[in-house]
Formats: sequence, structure tokens, C-alpha cells
Amino acid sequence: MDSVPSAVTAISRRPDAIAGLEPASAGIGLRHPHHRALLEGERCTGWLEAHAENYMSGGWSRHVLDRLRETYPISLHGVGLSLGGAGRLDTDHLERLRRLVKRVEPALVSEHVAWTGLEGLYLNDLLPLPWTEEALANLVMHIDQTQSALGRPILIENPSSYLAFRHAEMSEGEFLIEACRRSGCGLLLDVNNVYVSARNLGFDAAAYLQAIPGPLVSEIHLAGHSRRDVEGIELRIDDHGSIVDPAVWALYRATIARIGPRPTLIEWDSEIPSLTVLVEESAKADAILSEFRQQSSAEGTGCHAAE
Ligand SMILES: [Fe+2]
Repeated sequence: MDSVPSAVTAISRRPDAIAGLEPASAGIGLRHPHHRALLEGERCTGWLEAHAENYMSGGWSRHVLDRLRETYPISLHGVGLSLGGAGRLDTDHLERLRRLVKRVEPALVSEHVAWTGLEGLYLNDLLPLPWTEEALANLVMHIDQTQSALGRPILIENPSSYLAFRHAEMSEGEFLIEACRRSGCGLLLDVNNVYVSARNLGFDAAAYLQAIPGPLVSEIHLAGHSRRDVEGIELRIDDHGSIVDPAVWALYRATIARIGPRPTLIEWDSEIPSLTVLVEESAKADAILSEFRQQSSAEGTGCHAAE
């Protein structure tokens, strides 16, 4: 593909060139129960992330997004493009996304490393990919098609996993890094997803995160998850229905300490709490970001605090 940049170009690109969200701050997911409060209240968080599919048609929802974008930087997060699907991308869906991106001019556009159906059939779930060269080439082709249609780079998000494929040819981290290198896209690093997958599949979440090149990461997701006993085995379920787990906060903190502040979203999609609770959770991320923002600016000016 002509548009694929060299590995060196992709890996060394400054993430803020994609992000447009400087200084990096915490944001919250835009959910219908909070529309009215966000419209009528003072600005309460750094930015908002909207599920693209909820705003592709007109009506009240799109009116809300049009109004809120006057106050908040917006990120568009797609859930239905099926980038990892074996068939062709749904060009009607891609066109709807293109029109929305043109209208909203979001700071970030992201999608999942997953598949959600086959031609003409939509499954309401983010289904897993095998980490194989064949799946990688297919994913990169679809990312390239999407970026060409939108005229801008996108971010791809690591999945939460409940199973592994025996015929995998590489690790998940290697697969994602290679997809970014070949397509020139960035990474939306969901730290909760890494932790959930690590607990379910038995790998080391800290080692996974450590291996991700910092310059690839343009956004971070944090969310709560639940535990379920399945025939005597504890399964972690990525249900986005509670506060962020302390273990996930610890991994997040270590990641920010290593790669520097990045725009960070608190996702909450089930058992949605009051806006106040959501904003309080995002403030925890903001506190960590500002701690490391101060540290990096002190290092930048040579003004190191006394030990
Ligand atoms: Fe996420």
C-alpha cells in the first residue's frame, strides 16, 4: 500500500500531533443520561468521548453533540466499523462516519481491534481476532481504507479478552505494534482491558504495558470491571459498570510515569452513575496526569525539586 509509512516514521511520531488535546487531561464518556446536565452546567471535565454510532443521524442527540463541541474537545469512538472483519468494510457505515467526523472535527477518532459481523450481518459485540499475519494484513488494509476515507489517522484500541487462539503467531502486543507501524495509526491503550485480559488469560499486565512504545499511545481508557465465577474459575468481565479497580490505577500510574501524560478517558457504560460520580473518577486521573505534567516540565527546565 502506497500510504503505509515507514516503521521509523510511525514509531517516532509525536502523539500530540494526532491528539490535539494539549495539555493531556482526563475526560468522560458522553452518555444520554448526562446530556441535559452537561448542556446546562458549567464545564466539568477536560473533554468528552462520544460513541460515533449514537450521533450519525440527526435529532436530539446530534443537537446535543453540536452544542457540546462548542465547549468541550470531542473524541469520536466507533464501535461498528468491524476493522478486524474478514469481509469488506461497510462503505455506507464508513461514509456515515466520514460525514460525522467532518461535522464534529474531533480531536481523536478511534475504533476497536475486533470484528462485529460479516457483510450484511451485524452482531452487537466486539469479537476477538487471532493474532496471525493473515488477520494483521486484513486489519491493516481496513485501517488504511478508513484513514484514507477520513483523511486523518485513527487510533485502534486493544481488546479485553476471554479466550486465546491456539494458532496465534505472535502476542497481542506485537500484533498491535505492528498494525500501528504498518498503517501509521496510533494506539488507544485501554489499561483496564489489558488487566482484564491478563487476569483471564494468565499473562503479566505490567510486562505487556512495558513493551508498548510510548510514542504510539495517543489516548488511554480506564474503566471498571466485574468478577464472575464460571465453574469455579474467576473471570474478569469488562462491563464498564463501576469505579476503576485499584490494580488498574496502579498500572495506569506506572504507564504515565513511563510514557508521560496522555488524554485519559473514564468509560462507564452500564449502571451509569450521576455525572458527579463520573467527574470525580476522572479527577483521579487528572491528579495523576498533573503530577507527571509538573514533573516533566520541571525536568524540561532543569528545576528539579530537592530530594
Ligand atoms: Fe476502552
